[in-house]
Amino acid sequence: MKFLMVCLGNICRSPLAEGILKTKVKEAGLDWEVDSAGTSSYHVGDLPDRRSIGVAQSHGLDITYQRSRQFTLQDLDYFDVVYVMDTQNYEDVFRVCQNSDQEAKVCLIMDMAPEGMNVSVPDPYWGNDGFEQVYKMLENACNGIIKKYK
Ligand code: 4NP
Repeated sequence: MKFLMVCLGNICRSPLAEGILKTKVKEAGLDWEVDSAGTSSYHVGDLPDRRSIGVAQSHGLDITYQRSRQFTLQDLDYFDVVYVMDTQNYEDVFRVCQNSDQEAKVCLIMDMAPEGMNVSVPDPYWGNDGFEQVYKMLENACNGIIKKYK
């Protein structure tokens, strides 16, 4: 399986989602590919936000190998599932889909968690204290992804 995590900047939420799922995939001995991208080009080439790096580190995860890249149309063919963080990401990705196969790949990541359907992962960029909550939400979702596809 191949999974892509998508947010707006690819520096706060989706790098955490990538790091968390990659770790769980490794622990489960699965041969899955996991990547992340942003709908915007604001931070292309940048490291994850230092606050995401920090919260990852506090959970024993290194995400400093990651660099932000922009989501592309080709991603919709290459990946099996495109997990988006919020409803704006969903609209932005869904809008560029060219067929129903691509549309069917787009999923709100929290739909995989016990929190329930149609929940968005809040954008923590402008605040300062949302990163631990984002981490916990994404960990719940990634547990659901492993359970569903392994
Ligand atoms: P992310 O957070 O989408 O979780 O990476 C953001 C990062 C940067 C900006 C907005 C959200 N920005 O406007 O630069």
